[in-house]
Amino acid sequence: MLTTDKLTIRFGGHVAVNGVSCAFAPGTLTAIVGPNGAGKTTYFNLISGQLKASAGRVTLNGQDLTTLPPSLRTRAGLGRAFQLTNLFPGLSVQENVRLAVQATQQGRHRRGMNLWSIWSDHGQLLARTQSILEQVAMWERRDEPVSSLPHGDQRKLEVALLMALEPQVYMFDEPTAGMSHDEAPVILDLIRALKKDKTKIILLVEHKMDVVRELADRIIVLTNGTLVADGAPAEVIASPIVQQAYLGLTPQDAGSSTDALPHPNLPPSGGRGEQP
Ligand SMILES: Nc1ncnc2c1ncn2[C@@H]1O[C@H](COP(=O)(O)OP(=O)(O)OP(=O)(O)O)[C@@H](O)[C@H]1O
Ligand SMILES: [Mg+2]
Repeated sequence: MLTTDKLTIRFGGHVAVNGVSCAFAPGTLTAIVGPNGAGKTTYFNLISGQLKASAGRVTLNGQDLTTLPPSLRTRAGLGRAFQLTNLFPGLSVQENVRLAVQATQQGRHRRGMNLWSIWSDHGQLLARTQSILEQVAMWERRDEPVSSLPHGDQRKLEVALLMALEPQVYMFDEPTAGMSHDEAPVILDLIRALKKDKTKIILLVEHKMDVVRELADRIIVLTNGTLVADGAPAEVIASPIVQQAYLGLTPQDAGSSTDALPHPNLPPSGGRGEQP
């Protein structure tokens, strides 16, 4: 179970995340929705440790993560998509994924200098790397340097690296933003596949309501940093607070629109609002 307890951050006088208390259970995909600037990415940054909370707590399976740096939260099981600044841009796609798989496995078992186990580990490492790259449809691009990838492939690689970590908690912040029509289904299929593993906790920030409707087991709504709705998708989407304060729709519109939520044109850069 992942919990946030009265999680809060202030930037000067502005409270970007305001006392958000929530518990996320294994086997549940929770969509986090809300208007631009509502605090969704900031909430993610507080959970993953990119930002330090002004108040409140984050726990995972009872372990208090609140004061831990991002690396230790990752080790505890929190998986936040890598930012490409964390990669080795001159190395190939395959080498970057292999390093991520290797880093994860090293933490799990140290078997010492047994040559047989080193070789068998090496084979497993390569097989796992290939499997991940096939799942994100990037095996064909394995030899390309990361620095030369087009935007959509960079985003897919971020997801590949997240999978390499095998975290308990998967956090996706607009995972298909800026992707082409061909590329987005690859990522959505992956999230569908992840959902089948009932030990995983999945958090998804997503503006596209058709995606939210299909994937979410639960929706929480943030407005001005505050949690204003939380429940089953149909119920939350139909609630007056969401209809008025957020969707800006009349009740008749509810349930029929598959359009994206109000969202201004944004540069296709992906990690907006994310801190180094
Ligand atoms: N490092 C920071 N310093 C100051 N203000 C910040 C910082 N990070 C975020 N904010 C502010 O916090 C608020 C919430 O921003 P955030 O990026 O979390 O919104 P969001 O819900 O993810 O929006 P979007 O849907 O556009 O991605 C905004 O007003 C933003 O300007
Ligand atoms: Mg955001």
